[in-house]
Amino acid sequence: MHDIIHELDRRREAARLGGGQKRIDSQHAKGRLTARERIEVLLDEGTFEEWDMFKAHRCNDFGMQDQQIPGDGVVTGYGTINGRLVFIFSQDFTVFGGSLSETHAEKICKVMDHAMKAGAPVIGLNDSGGARIQEGVASLGGYADVFQRNVMASGVIPQISLIMGPCAGGAVYSPAMTDFIFMVKDSSYMFVTGPEVVKTVTHEEVTAEELGGAVTHNTKSGVADMAFENDVEALMMTRRLFNYLPLSNREKAPVRPTSDPTDRIELSLDTLVPDNPNKPYDMKELILKVADDGDFFELQPDYAKNIVIGLARMEGSTVGIVANQPLVLAGCLDIKSSIKAARFVRFCDAYNIPVVTFVDVPGFMPGTSQEFGGIIKHGAKLLYAYAECTVPKVTVITRKAYGGAYDVMSSKHLRGDVNLAWPSAEIAVMGPKGAVEIIFRDEKNDPAKIAEREAEYKAKFANPFVAGARGFIDDVIQPHETRKRICRSLAMLREKQLDNPWRKHGNIPL
Ligand code: HXC
Repeated sequence: MHDIIHELDRRREAARLGGGQKRIDSQHAKGRLTARERIEVLLDEGTFEEWDMFKAHRCNDFGMQDQQIPGDGVVTGYGTINGRLVFIFSQDFTVFGGSLSETHAEKICKVMDHAMKAGAPVIGLNDSGGARIQEGVASLGGYADVFQRNVMASGVIPQISLIMGPCAGGAVYSPAMTDFIFMVKDSSYMFVTGPEVVKTVTHEEVTAEELGGAVTHNTKSGVADMAFENDVEALMMTRRLFNYLPLSNREKAPVRPTSDPTDRIELSLDTLVPDNPNKPYDMKELILKVADDGDFFELQPDYAKNIVIGLARMEGSTVGIVANQPLVLAGCLDIKSSIKAARFVRFCDAYNIPVVTFVDVPGFMPGTSQEFGGIIKHGAKLLYAYAECTVPKVTVITRKAYGGAYDVMSSKHLRGDVNLAWPSAEIAVMGPKGAVEIIFRDEKNDPAKIAEREAEYKAKFANPFVAGARGFIDDVIQPHETRKRICRSLAMLREKQLDNPWRKHGNIPL
């Protein structure tokens, strides 16, 4: 018996060593943790239950029969984050470059299947050279098996991807279908075709970092949600994100008790909106001042900055925040910001997270680049997302809510539950200048007359009371009481019931 136990220890030890000390050292030399070290940082201490530690590949080509490394390049299992269940897979770059074989894929599929049955999230730590080249089509099949599960799990259990090394070729499509992608700066990259292929096909010379590094995907492509300095920071922030999320679509997000009073008055908000309607201000100041303990987990902070999205808590419960940002492009809705916010609203809706929307939007962005790029279709995504969303929706208009963008931004007409406005709100078809230029075109050569008309229009429409008179706004509130009014609204909506009609699925303008 003693020998058998010893044999188990020996086998475990071999599996833990992955591709060997030399390759572990090389991983460390690149500033990266190993697959197992990452799991240790991510999960609560001592909670990791590993599966398939001894699973081996079945490939007999290219001498692979003589190269068996137990575990086959991915560490899988489950554990907890702050006591809550999570399933995990962590690719081990020291084993055949973390490449995905048929058996490697089977291990990932196993945790995904269990996660679906148990109703708990999956976190994937990606660090892989892609398809196991020696296995060919068996590996491609393995990817497709994972993709299929990504799609079936979408909207059922949260899926989070961390890109902590290479992620190239078709392999990028598994993370792409998960809810969040976090990347590590100067250490991770994602692209469908690498720099060599790009050079051959398009004659562009580009480095891997420029083509698909963390900065590229967090500022240019919008593929990723956040970028971090190193593995540890990415893993710690994943723990933080996890704390906001429910385990599945059947549950509510966990409530974190707070000592922050729900009726906290913020007098500084009374002067947040400048007197000059064309002067910008920082919408994030409002978010930080109304959220519990000033705590806001912003997502995609460096992409389409004209809209701000992220998670916060109100009275301890998770809320999704969507806010126009007047500091960037005057807060206009354009293609990128519409897509960014639409996907986030749908995420919140899928996972029972109420949406709080702060509105200061002068309209959709004009111009040929927007029209040629399909602002009609992409702007409609946000409209569609808000309209189909059934979770509690609380909206606060701080200043401009003009035109179609007024309708889109969680208006009463799109089943906004509670729609509030600050006294500085201007809810109108368009701004006074534009309106007067159209209605009083004949007077355009008379500046005094135009100024008079503008003042007249402003007095009549640039306020919240016209919309209030129609019941489109439930109340006009003092800025300093915004937190209290949102908390009360959310408390009132806690047991909200609203269902959309049965259908196989809608046809969102993709
Ligand atoms: C098998 C692989 C591998 C792979 C790397 N290795 N990628 N083994 N299949 N795809 C092995 C290497 O042979 C090496 O083994 C070890 O992993 C580390 O690789 P290095 O090249 O030494 O590391 P590094 O210099 O850091 O370069 C990493 C890399 C490079 C950029 C990822 O290895 C690379 O370009 N690999 C091939 C990538 C690729 O073309 N993959 C297929 C993409 S197509 P030793 O024994 O020396 O340690 C694809 C299709 C998916 O993925 C489609 C899904 C639908």
